[in-house]
Amino acid sequence: MTTLDDFDRRAAQLDEGNPLATARRHFDLPDGEIYFLGNSLGPLTHAARAAVVNTLDDEWRNGLVRTWHDGDWLDLAASTGNLVGRVIGAPEGSVVAGDSTSVALFKVLSAAARINQSPTRRVLLCDSRNFPTDRYVARSVADLHGLEFVEIEVTDMPARFADDVAVMTASMIDYRSADLHDVRAVTAAAHEHCILTVWDLAHAAGAVKCDVFANDVDFAVGCGYKYLNGGPGAPAYMYAAPRIIGSVDQPIPGWFGHAEPFAFEDAYRPAAGISRFSSGTTHVLSMKAMHAALGVVTQYPIDDLRTTCIGLGDFFVEGFDAFLDGGDFSLGSRRDGAQRGGHIALLHPDAERMSKELISRGLIVDFRPPNVIRVAFSPLFLRFADVAQLIRELTLVK
Ligand SMILES: Cc1ncc(COP(=O)(O)O)c(C=O)c1O
Repeated sequence: MTTLDDFDRRAAQLDEGNPLATARRHFDLPDGEIYFLGNSLGPLTHAARAAVVNTLDDEWRNGLVRTWHDGDWLDLAASTGNLVGRVIGAPEGSVVAGDSTSVALFKVLSAAARINQSPTRRVLLCDSRNFPTDRYVARSVADLHGLEFVEIEVTDMPARFADDVAVMTASMIDYRSADLHDVRAVTAAAHEHCILTVWDLAHAAGAVKCDVFANDVDFAVGCGYKYLNGGPGAPAYMYAAPRIIGSVDQPIPGWFGHAEPFAFEDAYRPAAGISRFSSGTTHVLSMKAMHAALGVVTQYPIDDLRTTCIGLGDFFVEGFDAFLDGGDFSLGSRRDGAQRGGHIALLHPDAERMSKELISRGLIVDFRPPNVIRVAFSPLFLRFADVAQLIRELTLVK
């Protein structure tokens, strides 16, 4: 391949062979724009709009409070959780949706600490490269439980694992570099010392195979608005391994996590299953959008999502090598797609100016100070032709 036109022709061939090529029809994308930020806020699906409009115009307007019992609102956190479960490899009944990731992480980490801390297990390990909210929350949980808070890179954790550690927490995908961590190996190493594992799947679900059950993960959380396309402020979700859920005692025991919310009992009795992680009333409007968006994601095999996501990213790397390398550009993400999540950090000293120019040309990318252009390869709506266009525009704005 020698020219940008050749690259366009290869993109057309790859689009023809893409098993997800027709999934784009589910999305209501703005004209004249190519959206590379599905890792930040996934775009609107026709299904999400229809679901929210129906909730407004029928379920809320006509059904009013009766819809809690006549409709599906009461079951929505569990049924949405089950759809998430299909994406992250969790069995039916082991995921519940609700809260934000920060709050979900607080509840899950606190539950893990309550289960596992002891006079000799007094350490909470947190990935030092984790997303800031995770680090803030983990430190607070450690303080509240009188645990020692230790931050360390997730790759160094297995060497630190010992019988004094109660809980470890990390993100499956590094939000900056998109490094994919070996959840199975780290979890197995933690379990050798009976440490409970809490993984944040925010940048993973919908872009990589999480396989939480097969990887023997104890707990996981994640957000709904990235590759799951749940909408701005979409609910988060919480997973607990079925072998452990019966021991969960979480710190916000609200009525929606009660075994019988409408019995209005004096004392809290947790629901038998994962619903015990719920606290208050379901956020119906945002949950409806997310439920419908997940209905789209779950129509497609996770293997296809992963293959297309890697394919789009690898195609970008190919374009980088052919047309961008040699100048001030460099890659801040791994070249090997199998070790990468859904996005790529492209580094350039003039990244801020170039990001603005790309956006003015309708290529929606992210600038992260000081020198990162972040582009995500969301597999359900992006085309290889879009990636070719991005490479072409980058050669113009550089
Ligand atoms: C790894 C990770 N965790 C958590 C969050 C956000 O948490 P919340 O849903 O509370 O806003 C993000 C947001 O980008 C994230 O990347």
